[in-house]
Amino acid sequence: MAMLGGVLALTGCAGGAPSALDPAGTGAGRVADLWWVLFWISMAVFAEVMVLLVWALVFRRRRDARVRHGQPLRFVAIAGAGIPLVILVTVYALGLRDLVALGDGPGPEATTIEVTGHRWWWEVRVPGVAGATANELHIPVGEKVRIRLRTADVLHSFWVPQLMPKTDLIAGEVRETWLQTDRAGTYRGQCAEYCGTQHAHMAFLVVAEPRREFDAWLSQLGSPAARPQTDAQRRGQEAFEQGSCAGCHTIRGTGADGRIGPDLSDVGSRWSIGAGAVSNDGGHLGGWIANSQTVKPGNFMPPQPVDAQRLPDLIAYLQSLT
Ligand code: CUA
Repeated sequence: MAMLGGVLALTGCAGGAPSALDPAGTGAGRVADLWWVLFWISMAVFAEVMVLLVWALVFRRRRDARVRHGQPLRFVAIAGAGIPLVILVTVYALGLRDLVALGDGPGPEATTIEVTGHRWWWEVRVPGVAGATANELHIPVGEKVRIRLRTADVLHSFWVPQLMPKTDLIAGEVRETWLQTDRAGTYRGQCAEYCGTQHAHMAFLVVAEPRREFDAWLSQLGSPAARPQTDAQRRGQEAFEQGSCAGCHTIRGTGADGRIGPDLSDVGSRWSIGAGAVSNDGGHLGGWIANSQTVKPGNFMPPQPVDAQRLPDLIAYLQSLT
């Protein structure tokens, strides 16, 4: 029963977390297939051992009288060495086949997306495109997309369970992986290497969409942020530019060009605040601005001495950035 429970947990019956056994991508598909092959081989070995165990317990005395000299040794050679050798070589060959296939990245003409791991968020850029976003990257459906990985500080690991196995981000190195899916949708990713206090809140989304929508995302990434439309939004932009916000964050097309924290040019459309820490709504946004340490303790944004009258304006402005 415990084993069945474990299998159910792995196959994604636990709370809607993304499962590597519910693959939607070419890379994860290979891993899932290999997982099932290994699972059934181990089940067969388990069953075989149990049968032999019962056989030995029940028939040992009767067999003892009949066993001829030399027979046990032959049995040990076949069951103890021969069969395991066949199984291990097969498993090794299958693993090697998939390892080679997973290492087969896209060609030089493929779309490239650059992802940089920070404690504790993901910076997303596209070569040749001016802007940046955070904790969300888009890929065109049906194409093999190169993901170029760097870390700005410590080790992180880029993992989208339904699309591709993990790739570690190692300081001083540029590493590459790729994503490919034929199924449009939203896939959750997660940092998979312990990187400090808020490692758990280092999630991201991969949005797979038709090429046309992907191109629209690219053009938005290269464009200035939305202009404020209401008085409250205008006051919010002013407060952002003149306050401490602009020292750390960029909002494209405004006076805010800080590079320490995430680019906030599209913050209003993001799926979460704090890389999966809380949902992106006015209340959480206000709480985050005033004191993000209560939301995501240890993150590098200090509490902000924001005038209580300015806070609603800041929220209105940031929420308009979609
Ligand atoms: Cu980054 Cu764990």
